[in-house]
Amino acid sequence: MDMIYSELGRTGLNVSRCCLGTMTWGKQNTQDEGFEQMDYAISRGINFFDVAEMYAIPPTAETYGTTETIIGNWFAARGNRQDVILASKILGRSDAVHARPGMGVDQCRQTPAQIDLAVEQSLKRLQTDYIDLYQLHWPDRKAPIFSRKPSITEMRDDDMEPLADILMSLQRHVEKGNIRHIGVSNETPWGVMKFIAESEAKGLPRMASIQNVYSLVARQFEEGLDEVCMREDVSMLSYSPLAQGYLTGKYRNGALPPGARKTLFNRLDRYETSRGQASINAHVALAEELGVDPAQFAIRFCDTRDFMTSTIIGATTMDQLKTCIDAFSIDWTDEMEQRVGQLYAEYRGPCT
Ligand SMILES: NC(=O)c1ccc[n+]([C@@H]2O[C@H](COP(=O)([O-])OP(=O)(O)OC[C@H]3O[C@@H](n4cnc5c(N)ncnc54)[C@H](OP(=O)(O)O)[C@@H]3O)[C@@H](O)[C@H]2O)c1
Repeated sequence: MDMIYSELGRTGLNVSRCCLGTMTWGKQNTQDEGFEQMDYAISRGINFFDVAEMYAIPPTAETYGTTETIIGNWFAARGNRQDVILASKILGRSDAVHARPGMGVDQCRQTPAQIDLAVEQSLKRLQTDYIDLYQLHWPDRKAPIFSRKPSITEMRDDDMEPLADILMSLQRHVEKGNIRHIGVSNETPWGVMKFIAESEAKGLPRMASIQNVYSLVARQFEEGLDEVCMREDVSMLSYSPLAQGYLTGKYRNGALPPGARKTLFNRLDRYETSRGQASINAHVALAEELGVDPAQFAIRFCDTRDFMTSTIIGATTMDQLKTCIDAFSIDWTDEMEQRVGQLYAEYRGPCT
């Protein structure tokens, strides 16, 4: 089936419903494998790629920037920058100061100077003069993200970078043509609403999208963000639709397949609570009972949500990539919807 496209926020850009994730290239995958994935994705009608300055994963000083470099080398080799709507991201607050050489800072923050350096470095690695969608990878403040909830006192006492100041820094790059549109990632309902309010009050660029975790077992987006995004025309881009591989069933009964992310890096803890594991097993069993590949079932579930603009897939082999892209054309039946609804009522998407 032909690829389908949806508008990204209010940008006028039409992005493919399947977005190509890239974060394994430069560690788990080689540059040649990344090139093969990008060539194949383009041949299937995918026009939307997602990267970050931080990639490849796991994030270290050695892997920092390697995925952007691979994409930049591919643009140079193919001469096709115009064929891709490219999303990248700036680090949120973190200790990854190797990303800010020469600045003498003790933390990554979304300050004007750090934003300037991050944009400059990304453009250089990507061998381009513009990024279509520049996302804040996670907030520059203490906020309930990545399964961690700071206390109210910690959040209140935090010296967060004012959101209007972040928007003003981004505006300078929009004006220069370095970045075309902006988005958030791992954001909360308050963060999205506050960014929009500041943009509207001060005439600053407006967040076009939010990139948050979402899958059969991680449905917290539906607890407030869905309404914010619908009312404010902010596009939802879901990451980890397979719960980092768990929803394929490959790790069932403690299996550790050679070369798989968990086997190599063992950092999938969000999914490793007893309720998380029970919910994952129930969804994999449901797909099998219905005669559908569990990976395709999980991806098509994301794609069929009425708030979804694009689902970001990830693959480490060409077979996986084909399976993931083919998922966008499987039938999503009333029975599937109803049975998934029953599991949601039972588990409430337990992997926050
Ligand atoms: N904004 C953020 O904070 C954030 C966070 C995470 C991801 N992302 C973005 O979202 C993209 C996708 O995230 P994700 O990689 O976590 O997505 P995912 O779909 O949950 O997991 C993808 C992984 O599952 C395994 N897999 C894929 N298809 C398979 C199949 N058919 N059979 C068996 N295993 C299969 C592969 O890993 P193995 O081969 O290693 O098992 C693959 O790398 C990333 O590349 C990145 O662009 C963003």
